[in-house]
Amino acid sequence: MSSERSNWIVLKFGGSSVSSPENWQKIASEVQKRQNEGYKVCLVHSALSGISNTLEEIVEHPSDNNLFPKVERIKEQHLELGQKLGVAAKELLAEDFEELEHIVKGIELIGEASYRVQARLLAMGELMATKLGAAYLNQKLDTAEWVDARNHIKTVVRKNATERSRIISAVSTTDYDATVADALDKAGPVVVTQGFIGSDSEDKTVILGRGGSDVSAAYFAAKIGAERLEIWTDVPGMFSANPHAVPSARLLNHLSYEEAQEIATNGAHVLHPRSIMPARKHGIPIHVRCTLKPELTGTVISSEGSDDEAIVKAIAVRDDVILVSMESLGMWQEVGFLADAFEVFKHYGLSIDLVSTSQSNVTVSLDPGLNEHFQDIREEFVEDLGNFCKVEVIESVSAVSLLGRRIRTILHQLGSAFEVFQEHQVYLVSQAANDLNFTFVVEGEQADRLVRQLHEQVILQSGKQHSFGPTWSQLMKEEDEVEENGEPWWGKKREQLLKVMKDNGSSYVYDIDTVKRYAGLIQNLDAVSFGLYAMKANANDDILKTFESLGFGFECVSIGEVRKIFDLFPDMDPKKILFTPNFAPRSEYEEGLKLGVNVTLDNIYPLQKWPKLFKGEELFLRIDPGHGGGHHEHVKTGGVQSKFGIPRFELDELKELVKDHEISVKGLHAHIGSGIKDPQSWKDTAVILHNVAEQLGGVEILDLGGGFGIQENETQANLDIGEVDKSLQKFKEAHPQYDLWVEPGRFLVATAGVLLSKVTQLKGKGEMQYVGIETGMNSFIRPALYGARHTIVNLSKLDHPSNQTVNIVGPICESGDKLGIDRLFPNSEEGDVILIANAGAYGKVMSSNYNLRQPADEKVIR
Ligand code: LLP
Repeated sequence: MSSERSNWIVLKFGGSSVSSPENWQKIASEVQKRQNEGYKVCLVHSALSGISNTLEEIVEHPSDNNLFPKVERIKEQHLELGQKLGVAAKELLAEDFEELEHIVKGIELIGEASYRVQARLLAMGELMATKLGAAYLNQKLDTAEWVDARNHIKTVVRKNATERSRIISAVSTTDYDATVADALDKAGPVVVTQGFIGSDSEDKTVILGRGGSDVSAAYFAAKIGAERLEIWTDVPGMFSANPHAVPSARLLNHLSYEEAQEIATNGAHVLHPRSIMPARKHGIPIHVRCTLKPELTGTVISSEGSDDEAIVKAIAVRDDVILVSMESLGMWQEVGFLADAFEVFKHYGLSIDLVSTSQSNVTVSLDPGLNEHFQDIREEFVEDLGNFCKVEVIESVSAVSLLGRRIRTILHQLGSAFEVFQEHQVYLVSQAANDLNFTFVVEGEQADRLVRQLHEQVILQSGKQHSFGPTWSQLMKEEDEVEENGEPWWGKKREQLLKVMKDNGSSYVYDIDTVKRYAGLIQNLDAVSFGLYAMKANANDDILKTFESLGFGFECVSIGEVRKIFDLFPDMDPKKILFTPNFAPRSEYEEGLKLGVNVTLDNIYPLQKWPKLFKGEELFLRIDPGHGGGHHEHVKTGGVQSKFGIPRFELDELKELVKDHEISVKGLHAHIGSGIKDPQSWKDTAVILHNVAEQLGGVEILDLGGGFGIQENETQANLDIGEVDKSLQKFKEAHPQYDLWVEPGRFLVATAGVLLSKVTQLKGKGEMQYVGIETGMNSFIRPALYGARHTIVNLSKLDHPSNQTVNIVGPICESGDKLGIDRLFPNSEEGDVILIANAGAYGKVMSSNYNLRQPADEKVIR
């Protein structure tokens, strides 16, 4: 920790942040704010957007004959921004433009650029941009001094450094430097300087490598003992996964330096991994913030609050990893095998990332970022290594990492998450010695889906939601779109609910207004043409009537459910009913066909054994997409372990049967499970069904199933339904020939229902307090069956302080009869009304008379 802490704050802005006048207004206002708080500001920034790339093109193709149009474009871009900012760019940059032309002329003449020349040219982008920035701020704030970073970021030579690395990816020291601090103090209170560049012991220009502006800012912060380092970028912080691939990725509000290092190193491109160490060394907090949304606080990286809790914080992926597998019988008896083999890697300058060993095999991964020359030396390398063992090079694989803290201690909790590997080939597993990283190397094309599955199971379903901020899509929404996260409906209708309980025993109460609100969310999905309500979730008459009046169809899993719909709605169009039985007797199919409803087969057995029944019929077929999903093992309905759907390996046989019996396949259906929070899941299903439809021909409808997850308690994430629609719209644009159907149950009714019951007795047993209520697992079995955690409150004492931890239990003779475990609760009394929230789905329908206790009845309010 530096004792030389000053009142400087270092702010770093990237290329896209400094390329528009709107952003410069935001930058000026941030600088002003820091000043008002009594800080001095060191602004470090990059070249304008695209400039570094153009300069790089020049050094990479020095013999191109159109170098000068590029120079002209560079000049124009600066003049244009200058004009918009109202600064005299032409005069300000006259010398730089001249120098730029000189260097490029030299390159053109010689047809090549030495590293020295490359560094001088690449540095021009930052030098020019910062002059515009300083002039603008000077105009706005009356004070801003342009400072040449090369006078302060002096680089040092590393052992064994090549000429290239000394000049093109140079490093500086990270100690406090009183000379730099004094110089900035004199130039302050606001200085504007360049990222990415420095100078060596001969005072010649060097650069700090790609993404070096973050590193520059960290060097400045260390050298002047800044209070804080702020990295401003185009995303609002660091996330639990790459938000472009996983829009439900959650903001990481706080990270320790170690966690941030691990996440940055493993592929998150928000923050350069080399920028963390200098800050960490001096305990300088790093704030990652978004220029477009300065009102957000972003991610804070510091040593504070890095408690000891074991947790997975992010799922990262690195693509284009190369594996080298070395097979040799009895290698462990051979002294020095590894040393010999690794010597070959060293000889070819290959850097090894992960290592995994067995009796006869050692497999290592190479990070292509550090091994760009691999393809050039591949043949010779394999030949040399082949002298010691059998070598196989496996390409196009990806490394998927769980990143967090003390992962080893929570591996057992990740059990169900690891089931996703049933569907993936794993080439290598590696656990980092620091216990911050657990990595799997899998087929490249599977990586994205694996990341989403793991993210869903390990992060979205974890009970540690307090460690995560809002999702990417919530943060990136416009203000007016942000959903009101207000009081739940049952808080607003509390009096009405207490009145219901005055003269009643335990009751499920459904709020029809809320049912309608959720129905609207499904009907607003632009990509979906028809919504069916999966009535298994809740078969209450008023609820069914509500959906019927809104134009929903019904998904029925038994002939009993089909009959109930016709009883309630005798004029119902049978084609609005989808009958999806599983292992049902022949008679149910017969009745379904007679009633004219859409019948779904989820097995080829009925076609093989009862062909006459189906001859010439129009049918739906339920396909097993090969993977399952959902909140618990019991509710996953896809993949080899589940009894549902026709497996894709039976497709040829299915095709024959369909042809032989003249069946027209009107629709394909799939449902992978229940309580899914990954918004891409339904699009993935659509893609799989489309592939099957191509083979069968004539398919008009793809029914993508239900399974839409909800937030069961305050610690869980919500499903981003807008993202579901976006991804389905993309699918629909590519395949407009299909009608897309969905059939949610839970999503439509869960939030609208609560279970109310009265306190019977209280008990204190050692440390544990029990609050007993009139009904238990006979009314609501989800906590016992799935470990489901529903919000529970004492409705009679809603505003009393919660000052004790209790278990809420029912009267059933089973130890599993617990409705809530370890809940913070107010002091409760006999007769208080207890409310179990989000119980509108799979509540009453799964209740029983167990112990001959009547389960809760049902009431409806509006
Ligand atoms: N379609 C089919 C073919 C289904 O099997 C299911 C549910 C759904 C749609 C509706 O799924 P939802 O949108 O409600 O997730 N008892 C469990 C849920 C079992 C779901 C069974 N199938 C629970 O309480 O979580």
